[in-house]
Formats: sequence, structure tokens, C-alpha cells
Amino acid sequence: MDIVVENLVQVFGEAPREVLALDRVSHRFPSERFTCILGPSGCGKSTMAQIVGGIEPYTSGTVTVGSDGQPLGTHSVMVWQQLNLFPWRTVIDNVAFGLEIRGVAKPERNERARRLIASVGLRGFEQHRPPQLSGGMRQRVALARALIMERPVMLMDEPFAALDAQTKIVMQEELVRIYERSKRTILFVTHAIDEAILLGDEVVVMTARPGRIKEVIPIDLPRPRSQEMVNTPAFGRLYDRALHLIREEVLNAMKQQEAMVG
Ligand SMILES: Nc1ncnc2c1ncn2[C@@H]1O[C@H](COP(=O)(O)OP(=O)(O)OP(=O)(O)O)[C@@H](O)[C@H]1O
Ligand SMILES: [Mg+2]
Repeated sequence: MDIVVENLVQVFGEAPREVLALDRVSHRFPSERFTCILGPSGCGKSTMAQIVGGIEPYTSGTVTVGSDGQPLGTHSVMVWQQLNLFPWRTVIDNVAFGLEIRGVAKPERNERARRLIASVGLRGFEQHRPPQLSGGMRQRVALARALIMERPVMLMDEPFAALDAQTKIVMQEELVRIYERSKRTILFVTHAIDEAILLGDEVVVMTARPGRIKEVIPIDLPRPRSQEMVNTPAFGRLYDRALHLIREEVLNAMKQQEAMVG
């Protein structure tokens, strides 16, 4: 399901203190492709994901997900860094929550939740509660809870940013596997260059605020992907390109901040 953003503008606050967060952003996120949005802090990545997910109203432009005219949010599900799991519910009841509010009967929703819990490597933890799990395990629960909705679009906002380095690698590989098995349209926000290249079919590099699209880098690395690819020359070339673009923007962002203070 395509996501099409045209001339998207987002202004926060009122004049004279308004903030132009997104400035005429246009892009087509292709159906069943994995697109990473990479950019310096404050460039509007989260804002864009929230607008596409129907959580945040926007100032002007058009945003469409699919072609049936349904409101934004209908076809997508979000995964954040802050997981928002229910701490008092068991793992299985957290994962099955979306089906429960849809009115799916308990035997069916538990069966589907159990399958997903196994697919993210948490078999045996169905009756645990989130406070009894590690950060990486909680992140898997959040992923399973999103996947159970079977929406064609997944919007992910730095879902792995708080994980330790090893857990992050495992989670990235798991996500790659899930994506390669059941293609969905994924929009994945990150400020980690290696993560964007390892996961994405394309990397959309944004400018410092106001957020615009600076360049789109196609990632032609073969799938299935694995962490070992990080050491290949092809990966290195993509990394260098993205690093060059990002470095310029981070320096711009720093200059802006200095100007605001000074
Ligand atoms: N609700 C809001 N009210 C006012 N300003 C906001 C609001 N949400 C975001 N902003 C501003 O809009 C800009 C973009 O914010 P956003 O959170 O989208 O950036 P980001 O690229 O996700 O940054 P980070 O990498 O730090 O998460 C920032 O300058 C931020 O301060
Ligand atoms: Mg953000």
C-alpha cells in the first residue's frame, strides 16, 4: 500500500514563535517496501510518522495511505521507542489486545498471539508481565502486538534506540526476517546510519529543521540481509554517502542552535 506525501507542511505554535517543522515534503513511499527516514534530531522525523499514522493533524499538503480514501491511521500501526505496554497484563494479553478490542473471541486471539509470540522468540513467556522482562524482550512484545493487527503499513519511530548494542542487532535481524517473510509497507525512523542501510530498500535523508528531503539513497544490497553485510565494500560506500549528507545537516543544525542562543 503506497504512502504518498505531497507538499506536506507542519507548523507548530503561533506567530511570532512558530516552528516550521516540515517544509513542503513530497515523497512516495512505495508499497511493500522498507523505507528508512534518516535525519538529525529535531528535523521532523517523528512528526512525519505521526502525521502519516493519523495521530497528528497537519498544516497543509496532502497525505494518502492506499487509494480507498479511508482516514489516516486506518491501514497502519505504530511502534514507538516508548512501548506503552500494559504492565498489569500478561504478555499474551498485551499481544492479543488489538484483537480483543475488535471483538475476536478468546480462543482465536490467543492462538494468533501465541504464534506471534513464538515468532519473536518469546515462547514460554506468555504468562509473564512486562516488568518481569528485559528491555529487548519488551520490545519483542511490542512488535508482536503491532504485527497481530495485520495492517499493511507499519510506522516505526526509533523502536530500537533504547536497546543495548547486542539486543539491537538481534532485533534488527528479527525485523528484517519478518519483513522478508510477510511484505508490508514499512516507514522506519532512525538517526542511526548503519541501521537505516541494513534495514531499508531506500533511505530518505532529511535536512535539519525545517525538515525537507535532502536526498533519497536506494539501497541495492541483496536480501536476505544480515549483520555480516556491514563489513562489505557495498555497505561501506552507502554508509559513506549517508554519513556525508548527515554530517552536513548536523553541522547546519548546530549552527541554527548557536544562532538561536547567541
Ligand atoms: N507538539 C509540538 N509542539 C511544538 N513543537 C513541536 C511539537 N512536536 C514537535 N515540535 C518541534 O518540531 C520539530 C520536529 O520535531 P520531531 O519530534 O518531529 O523531530 P525528530 O526528527 O523526530 O527529532 P528526534 O530525532 O530528536 O526524535 C522540533 O523542532 C520540535 O521541537
Ligand atoms: Mg523523533
